[in-house]
Amino acid sequence: MIFGAILAGGVGSRMNIADRPKQFLQLGDKPIIVHTLEKFLLCSRLDKVYVGVHPNWLLHMQDLLDKYVPDQKDMVVIVPGGGDRNNTIMNIADKIEEDFGASDDHIIVTHDSVRPFVTMRIIEENIDGALQYGAVDTVIEATDTIVVSEDGKVITEIPNRKKMFQGQTPQSFNLKMLKELYHDLSEEEKDILTDACKICVVRDKPVHLVRGEVSNLKITTISDYKIAQAMIGGNAIG
Ligand code: CTP
Repeated sequence: MIFGAILAGGVGSRMNIADRPKQFLQLGDKPIIVHTLEKFLLCSRLDKVYVGVHPNWLLHMQDLLDKYVPDQKDMVVIVPGGGDRNNTIMNIADKIEEDFGASDDHIIVTHDSVRPFVTMRIIEENIDGALQYGAVDTVIEATDTIVVSEDGKVITEIPNRKKMFQGQTPQSFNLKMLKELYHDLSEEEKDILTDACKICVVRDKPVHLVRGEVSNLKITTISDYKIAQAMIGGNAIG
């Protein structure tokens, strides 16, 4: 079976404004997370879409389902988020196994709730890639030159830009494989490895690439939010 996993367990501290986590801010006529969820609900290959939500916001999320996707509520399962992003993924993984049992073949398409402009092509290619390879990441070619500095003061290295990519989401995995790799990590590794694909990379599990889009931006700061508002062409405050 194939599952969406929308990650909304964060509080959006870098937004530095809100009375609510950024995924609940209004973007045009609906909250950011509803835009994201609707993209996933359009994909008929998904058997269920799980949403990992910060524990303080579970009721709010339920209200959003009632208000914005009343006819598709049965397709969505709300799960309490974890202390970090990978914990939110693992909470969803546990709930999937509780609901549908463990399987060698389950696929999980994990996605940031704050990337509302993900496209159907990207979701489809993630599913295809995860089925074929077991692990895929969505990336775009780096447009800026990437500069490495070990101490943040002096350049250590300027890698060849042709080999540099910027990671986006979705990141999609064979669920059994991801769980096994994650639970094999030490507590120190778990603290450092905030990116789910890195769990695979440090254990030498190949992660294939899916081509992302510049428009599939992550809303991290106020200026990202303003760009997203311009892209949607609607009003901001809500
Ligand atoms: N996320 C999550 N569970 C966590 C932390 C983050 O599901 N414990 C989710 C966020 O809700 C977001 C995505 O992971 O959709 C990407 O994370 P990021 O942009 O860093 O979100 P926040 O952690 O909310 O932001 P900040 O780091 O500024 O606090």
